[in-house]
Amino acid sequence: GKVCLAYSGGLDTSCILKWLLDQGYEVVCFLADVGQEEDWDQVRAKAKKLGAAKMEIKDLRREFVEQTCFRAIQCNAQYEGRYLLGTSLARPIIARAQMKFAAEEGCQYVSHGCTGKGNDQVRFELAFLAIDPKIKIIAPWRLPEFFEKFEGRQALLDYAEHSGIPVTSTKAKPYSMDDNIAHCSYESGQLEDPSLPPPDGMWTRTNNPVTAPSTPQEVTIRFEKGIPVKVSSEGKEWTDSLELFIALNELGKVHGIGRIDIVENRFIGIKSRGCYDSPAMTILQAAHLDIEGLVMDGKVRSLRDQFVTHTWSEIIYNGLYFSPEREFVENSLLFSQRRVNGEVRLQLYRGNVWITGRSSETEKMYSEEESSMDSLVDFSPVDTTGFISINAIRLKKFGVQKQEEGHSL
Ligand code: ARG
Ligand code: SIN
Repeated sequence: GKVCLAYSGGLDTSCILKWLLDQGYEVVCFLADVGQEEDWDQVRAKAKKLGAAKMEIKDLRREFVEQTCFRAIQCNAQYEGRYLLGTSLARPIIARAQMKFAAEEGCQYVSHGCTGKGNDQVRFELAFLAIDPKIKIIAPWRLPEFFEKFEGRQALLDYAEHSGIPVTSTKAKPYSMDDNIAHCSYESGQLEDPSLPPPDGMWTRTNNPVTAPSTPQEVTIRFEKGIPVKVSSEGKEWTDSLELFIALNELGKVHGIGRIDIVENRFIGIKSRGCYDSPAMTILQAAHLDIEGLVMDGKVRSLRDQFVTHTWSEIIYNGLYFSPEREFVENSLLFSQRRVNGEVRLQLYRGNVWITGRSSETEKMYSEEESSMDSLVDFSPVDTTGFISINAIRLKKFGVQKQEEGHSL
């Protein structure tokens, strides 16, 4: 049989590649460029040297940014109130491209190096199966003949040495990372004790906010339909989606924007301590939340927060991107965004995003005249007396009942 392996060049997937070949499979490798720091030539050479029939590397950065990162911004997506979903957003984009390559190569199998305890196995495999219901999946870390043989790091290292797999210094990292244009994640290893601070030098996508520049940097972001279409700062301007995203990552890095350190609940029920740095996503989310304040209807916003923001985030976290519920919820998300047009001005300063102004030429939900404490044009304060008494009907009854029960409010 022929297998398409999601190959990263790391120790785990290198051992898996060798092991699949040992089992008699023909193996082609697939690697998605979603903006991670990587030496592509080195990975390509390594896969070929280990016996892969092909090593396909595909640049997916633009579709990643445009199709899932920007959707997350429109949604104000957060998992458990903190995590901006960087890994979760990349998985469906990677899975779809891997499946396309697997089909072109005539593979009956796809394989990956995700562990049996994580979210990523679920995300990849649900996507694989939605895309091709007939595809067969080899998940070595869930196969006893694999995980019993390779239990513990040392067994992998021994096998690597035995099989001529070069082990580079990056393997020495005492935690697991997943890097892409949206974030870098850090989990397991030294991070497993949630009471200890992350090790020095861990963060890769943000500089330390404590030693960041002592002068704030002003940035302006323009949104159309809730999507960032222009970023400007200090006389420079970016309008291409990928370029503006990269520019925000660079600015955010300098000012130490977007670090979090959390304990989260994985889909399979296990808690995990994770650290994430997501500069561009953090800046964009702050700006998007702000422009919505200016232009969005209050009731629509409340309904969207309740029924779309939470639900969409959970769908993405749980790996259900290719699902009817994601399509359903996303339809109403896009509907909610059709008037989210305007500009937000903000300052980046030592880990913070401070909004300093917003405007919209097209949206007229906000009226200075109407909001002003100094004007009564088109507004009758007497009406509010009625508004309050009607709303108080129920509450008066509630108060009386409490009193009768002997409870004070
Ligand atoms: N806990 C995060 C998530 O589930 C990050 C996962 C990182 N994945 C990895 N293979 N290191 O989205
Ligand atoms: C893994 O288990 O492979 C990484 C972590 C995760 O998927 O949640």
